Amino acid sequence: MKFTRANTCKGTVRIPGDKSISHRSVMLGAISEGTTKVTNFLQGADCLSTIDCFLRLGIQIENHAEETLIHGRGLYGLTAPESRLDVGNSGTTARLLSGILAGQNFSSELTGDSSIQSRPMKRIIDPLSLMGAQMESLRGNGCVPLHIKGSPLHGIRYHSKVASAQVKSCILLAGLYADSPTSVTEPYLSRNHSEIMLKHFGADLTSEDTTATILPGAKLTAREIKVPGDISSAAYFIAAGLIIPGAEVLIQNVGINPTRNGILKVCRDMGADITLLNRSCESGEPAADLLVRHSTLRGTTVGGGMIPTLIDELPVVAALACFAEGTTIIKDAQELKVKESNRIQVMVKNLSAMGAHITATDDGMIIEGGYPLHGAVIDSRLDHRIAMTFAVAALASDGETEILGADCVRISYPKFYADLKNLIK
Ligand code: S3P
Repeated sequence: MKFTRANTCKGTVRIPGDKSISHRSVMLGAISEGTTKVTNFLQGADCLSTIDCFLRLGIQIENHAEETLIHGRGLYGLTAPESRLDVGNSGTTARLLSGILAGQNFSSELTGDSSIQSRPMKRIIDPLSLMGAQMESLRGNGCVPLHIKGSPLHGIRYHSKVASAQVKSCILLAGLYADSPTSVTEPYLSRNHSEIMLKHFGADLTSEDTTATILPGAKLTAREIKVPGDISSAAYFIAAGLIIPGAEVLIQNVGINPTRNGILKVCRDMGADITLLNRSCESGEPAADLLVRHSTLRGTTVGGGMIPTLIDELPVVAALACFAEGTTIIKDAQELKVKESNRIQVMVKNLSAMGAHITATDDGMIIEGGYPLHGAVIDSRLDHRIAMTFAVAALASDGETEILGADCVRISYPKFYADLKNLIK
C-alpha cells in the first residue's frame, strides 16, 4: 500500500474497542455464570482468535457487529477441545488462556502463527509450574506450541521480573483455580484491566501498589461490558494530528485508564496540544474524547515506570520524535524486542530508510529530531503497530512510501486505512 504527503488532516474518528478489554470480556464471560453482553467488542483478528479458542472449549458465543454475547458456563464449565487451540498472532490469548487451561481437568494444546511461535512463554511456564501446572513447550524452546495438562493448582506469591500485564493476568486467572491466595508483584504497574474486570465479575481481588492478590472460591457472575475505544489505536490519529500541518482531529471514546495513558503524558511533555472532552467511566474504565491539534514538538526522555503505560505506543513515539526538535531517548524498553516483531530493530531500520537520525540501544532508541523524512519501502514484518506507525509518518514525509504487508492492521484495527483516509485532505 502506498502513501504520500497529506495537505492536512481534519475531522472526527471513532476508535474501535480496546483489544485488551475485548479479550478479557470473552475470557471472563466464558468462565462466569450467565450471559455476558459486550458492546463495542473489537472485531480484530486477535480478539477473533480468543473467540475461536473459547468456541472450541465448548462456550457458545454470538458475535454480531452491534453486540457480542458470551454464554458463560462457570469456572468449571469448559470442555476438552477436540483439536489444537490456535491463538493466531495474539500474545494476550496465548498467555491469559494458558492461565485458565492450567487449572482445568483436561489437557489441551495451544499453537499460533510464526510470530507467536518465537515469543517467550517461559515467563508464564515458570510461575504456572510453581503453582503445580504441567506444561510443556513441545519444541523445547520455551515457546508455543504448548501442551497443558490441567492439574490441581496451589497459590503462590510471585515476583515477576518484567512488568507484563499478560504475565500478571495469566497468574491471576490461574489463581481462580488454586487452593490458596495467589499474588503477583511486578517491578512497575502494568495495565490493570484484568484486575478491574475480575472484580466487576465478582472475583475476590485486591491491589496494592504493584501487587495484585486473588483469592479462590468466589463465584464469577456474567456482567455487561461496554468496551471503550483503544488508546493504542487512537495513538496513530494523535500522531497524525500532531505532525500534519494545520491538523485538528477529534478522536472519540478513547479509554484513558491511567495504566494505559502514558502516550498522553509523553505527547504533552513533547509540547502537544491535546484536550480531553466528554469524560465518562463504564465498569471502572475511564474514557474521553481527545481533541488534537498540530503542534510544535520537542524531544523528551521516556523510561522507567512510564514504559508499561505506553508499551504498544513506543513505535509511534519514535516516529513522533523525528518531527520534534532535539533528542528523544526511549530507555528501559527491552520488552520491545519480544513483541509481534523486534520493534527496536524494525523501527530503527525503517525510520533510517526514511532519513531519520535514529540509533538502537540495548533497551530502546535514541532519535535526533528535526531531520525531514522522505518516502521509502517499509517492511512491516507483518506487525500491525509498525504498519500503522509508518502510514502516519508517510503522511508528513516527502515522496512516496510503500508499506509491505500493510494488511496486517486486521490484527487490531481492520478499518484503519479507511478511517485514516477519511481525515486526510
Ligand atoms: C497486553 C499487554 C501488553 C501489550 C499487549 C496487550 C494485554 O503486553 O503489549 O499488546 O492485553 O495484557 P505485556 O503486558 O506482556 O507487555
